Amino acid sequence: MKIHRYIYSISYYLLIAFLITSCKHDKEHEYHTVTDKIEAKSKNYKGIKTSSDTYIDGMNLLEVTENEITFLIPNRKDEIKSFKCTECHTKPLAEMQSKDIKKAHWNIKLKHADVNTMNCVTCHNSNNMDNLKSITGHDIDFNKSYKLCSQCHQKQYKDWTGGAHGKKLESWAKPRASMTCVNCHNPHSPSFKTKWPARFNTQKVKERK
Ligand code: HEC
Ligand code: HEC
Ligand code: HEC
Ligand code: HEC
Repeated sequence: MKIHRYIYSISYYLLIAFLITSCKHDKEHEYHTVTDKIEAKSKNYKGIKTSSDTYIDGMNLLEVTENEITFLIPNRKDEIKSFKCTECHTKPLAEMQSKDIKKAHWNIKLKHADVNTMNCVTCHNSNNMDNLKSITGHDIDFNKSYKLCSQCHQKQYKDWTGGAHGKKLESWAKPRASMTCVNCHNPHSPSFKTKWPARFNTQKVKERK
């Protein structure tokens, strides 16, 4: 009689234990949000390790966090030919400029906003050329020049942090690496020339003749 009760209770507990563990194995409920699920699956898809590391291997990148999004962008300082600026800019700009001295940066023509909005020292710090300057006079590192652009181009900046404006350097998997504004736009002349599409309407060309 007693042994029967034992078997009953044991199988009862086994059933409950089974229900609990089987509940845990229900994968759909392991993730709190869809983003969590994508993130987990991105690390390992059907046994294949997924990562963009191989694509960005050897690139000179730095990590930034903007709008609470963390991603990588290319370093700029190593690419700027005349950096460090203080090799020549040892004193404030006003003391270096004079009517007798020819323009040192004659090759740079500003074609951005009009002269009432912008000149060289809107972006460059005449007292410390090794840094860019915000509208309110704060230093901005050359590697983070997007901070300069974002002051006046908030929309493109926000789109860029989300990945909608500007190109990614890697595949879809993490870690994310994106080009920065100055990889595509020359800050001194940022707009692109308009051009014909690569494939245009040949019928229209015939009609025009
Ligand atoms: C080889 C020397 C040299 C280097 C390197 C150099 N500059 Fe200059 N720069 C000068 C001289 C000299 C002047 C003053 C003459 C003039 O106004 O062009 C000048 C002037 C300027 C001006 C004022 C131009 C104007 O038309 O009012 C800016 C802005 C400037 N430099 C930015 C920079 C920045 C930013 C860097 C570094 C990325 C840099 N320079 C590196 C020599 C240099
Ligand atoms: C809209 C902001 C802005 C203005 C205005 C501006 N610059 Fe720049 N400048 C930049 C940024 C950003 C960089 C760094 C670009 C990069 O990372 O390649 C730069 C780079 C430079 C460099 C280094 C370029 C190289 O390849 O060696 C020089 C020199 C320079 N600027 C001089 C000037 C002079 C002179 C003027 C005025 C005629 C001027 N800048 C106006 C934003 C500006
Ligand atoms: C002080 C404000 C200011 C800063 C800083 C600034 N811009 Fe601009 N930018 C303007 C204005 C004003 C115009 C001209 C009006 C327009 O077309 O929107 C312009 C025009 C442009 C254009 C052309 C827009 C078009 O429709 O063709 C691009 C691209 C651009 N900027 C990119 C940049 C980048 C990249 C940076 C950072 C290196 C930057 N800007 C920094 C104010 C600024
Ligand atoms: C991968 C290259 C790339 C990067 C990175 C990039 N842009 Fe652009 N941007 C473009 C192209 C291409 C256009 C469209 C030009 C056209 O239509 O003529 C554009 C257009 C613009 C315009 C003109 C208005 C518009 O939306 O069409 C502005 C302003 C601008 N970009 C600012 C920025 C700023 C600020 C950043 C950085 C936060 C940035 N861009 C990063 C390629 C880039």
